[in-house]
Amino acid sequence: MEKHYGDITRRQLLGAMAAMGAATVGAGLLGGCSSSRNSSASQSSASSTTQSESASGTASTSTSATSSSSSAAAGASSTQAVNGALVVVFSWSGNTLAVADCVAESLQAGLFRIEPATPYTTDYDAMLKIAQDEQAANTLPAIAANVQGWDGYSTIYLGFPTWWGHLPQIVKSFLAEHDCSGKVVYPFNTHGGSGFASCLSDLSAACPGADIREGLSLLGDEAQTSTAKINAWVSTTV
Ligand SMILES: Cc1cc2nc3c(=O)[nH]c(=O)nc-3n(C[C@H](O)[C@H](O)[C@H](O)COP(=O)(O)O)c2cc1C
Repeated sequence: MEKHYGDITRRQLLGAMAAMGAATVGAGLLGGCSSSRNSSASQSSASSTTQSESASGTASTSTSATSSSSSAAAGASSTQAVNGALVVVFSWSGNTLAVADCVAESLQAGLFRIEPATPYTTDYDAMLKIAQDEQAANTLPAIAANVQGWDGYSTIYLGFPTWWGHLPQIVKSFLAEHDCSGKVVYPFNTHGGSGFASCLSDLSAACPGADIREGLSLLGDEAQTSTAKINAWVSTTV
């Protein structure tokens, strides 16, 4: 089914991005994540979230409707960083969160979910417009909580969806408050067909001084069935 980003279809959006020259990107001790995930990715629209854990300063977060048992299980407090790695994710509708859960489980690392201080709408069309407006105005929406013990992490696995060909503004908000200079950053992403598009150049601009490594980009529809790909990618990062 044709996906719509606002008043233009996915095909038109991809065409517009191609015209702009936007790029499309199509094991050690690791146990890998399990093949069947009790993840939030099954939901198709965003839900309201709770900040009970992240707000209290731990790296593991939970959501009310996007319950993520594995992230809670893999979550470690900021003072318990395993190998100095932390998985950080923004996910509106759950696809990237499913990938994040898998990455965190593979690494046995904590997971921190970026959430807006004022929850986003759960309405898809409204979200398209809000995201577009945020980009146009370069708004940096406030985030609900910060990672505590940030300096203790040397490696960040950063997950986000492609929004209008770009890094969601709220991820830029997070990066404005969390200095990545001197850290290794592994980006991962889900999308509706355009891959990372301009997200990686946005990331470079938002993370001065970070060592940004090879990322992983997956179709959102495949987020829950890409365990092998995710584990394979994670294994290249350790
Ligand atoms: C506001 C908004 C903008 C989007 N823009 C794009 C886009 O430019 N290119 C694309 O391939 N998919 C786009 N999508 C689709 C999402 O990237 C895709 O569904 C992704 O898997 C969602 O991840 P999430 O469930 O973690 O939020 C957009 C979705 C939304 C809500």
